[in-house]
Amino acid sequence: MEELNHAIEDARSRYASANPLSQAADEKAARYLPGGNTRTVLHYEPFPLTMVRGDGAELTDLDGHRYIDMVGEYSAALFGHSDEIIKAAIHKALDSGVAMGAPTAYERELAGLLCERFPSLEQVRFCNSGTEANIMALTTARVVTGRNKLLAFNDAYHGGVIKFLGGSCKLNVPFEFVLADYNDIEGTAELIRSEGEELAAVIIEPILGAGGNIQGNRKFLQMLRRMTKEIGALLIFDEVKTARLGPAGTQGMLDIDPDLTTLGKFIGGGLPTGAFGGSSEVMAHYNPRLDSSFAHAGTFNNNVCSMAAGCAALSKIYTPQRAAEFFEWSEAFRLSLNDMFASKAVPMYANGMGSMIAIHFSSEPTKRPCDITTGCRSLRPLLHMELLLDGVLLCSRGDLFLSLPMNDSHLSKVRLALENFADRYKPLIEHALQA
Ligand SMILES: Cc1ncc(COP(=O)(O)O)c(C=O)c1O
Repeated sequence: MEELNHAIEDARSRYASANPLSQAADEKAARYLPGGNTRTVLHYEPFPLTMVRGDGAELTDLDGHRYIDMVGEYSAALFGHSDEIIKAAIHKALDSGVAMGAPTAYERELAGLLCERFPSLEQVRFCNSGTEANIMALTTARVVTGRNKLLAFNDAYHGGVIKFLGGSCKLNVPFEFVLADYNDIEGTAELIRSEGEELAAVIIEPILGAGGNIQGNRKFLQMLRRMTKEIGALLIFDEVKTARLGPAGTQGMLDIDPDLTTLGKFIGGGLPTGAFGGSSEVMAHYNPRLDSSFAHAGTFNNNVCSMAAGCAALSKIYTPQRAAEFFEWSEAFRLSLNDMFASKAVPMYANGMGSMIAIHFSSEPTKRPCDITTGCRSLRPLLHMELLLDGVLLCSRGDLFLSLPMNDSHLSKVRLALENFADRYKPLIEHALQA
């Protein structure tokens, strides 16, 4: 471990020398923002880079370095940073007035695009973020079923106030959650059985994102569908990230219809939004023409810039066919990384699916969060620093998100950076994993 700590310190010191302007900007920011930060996931040691410009699939920082952007705004920047079609749609919306305080054509068109695309969505409502979409889905389930308990999974992330990374978070909304282990078929089935008619909903990411981009096992997800039906609870698929995988998200791939689906990230074309929806029967509770319907509010639910950008993004760019092609291309890249790691016999693995990847320090795919070792976690800062120094921006926890403006040359550079890292540090990685 001493050797690893030394390597991390060395990489951090080279990084600090290369980024004096970002360091100064970070120190100055701490005057008015706690720790210089307003979004914890963007903080890392010794200080985060300040970005000044994005174009296509690349970003430029304050010190003038250019990066291939594999953070991709944690999957929301699917369209990159300068898509002309999206820019034109936003300009057009701006020119005809923002904050009109009335329904507009945009949210109606975007609702249609989403419902035509995701099999389980008959009707949707918009909100401002993925977090809000999940709060609305959970609260809908509680009110509709008249039950209180919600089943979620250890190491799941459903938003800043609904997260279970390493257990429940102090900032979580005070709902009554019970937690099961992701991909644990028997344990989860047992818990659902024992909670029975007290359970309002089960909420799940079909791919556990922040918890390591771990694919949900098909049998596990099918069991959730079957058992929630049996006990009268709602099944909520949080597809905030995974909806980008293929033409109809993971529900389309798996042929599973959840009762409620939540969306966010890319559906606003890179601008803030969220949505929750499901069958017309459940969503009828939000029909203001019906007696005793629920009044769902939100000043910016239908903000025209996000709605217009989302319409352009889904109708003109990320069509179902483009989504299918992008999935194939991204998945081939992920598999090529694993071939490369295997050929070097280095214990690294590109977990995930398609354009959602997380690098794990292991020779095998990670199937459950409990398979992630302390050694694997402790190597992440080194990977992060070294790739930044090599011009590849990735999430500090090791996630890589592909975006549409990327080409084969971008991916070759990313593969080469990972290859260089594997060659340079293989003995240290092996040592850290044994410790
Ligand atoms: C699976 C999942 N659900 C919900 C959210 C929350 O979305 P937002 O950050 O838009 O609130 C995220 C954000 O990363 C997410 O990954």
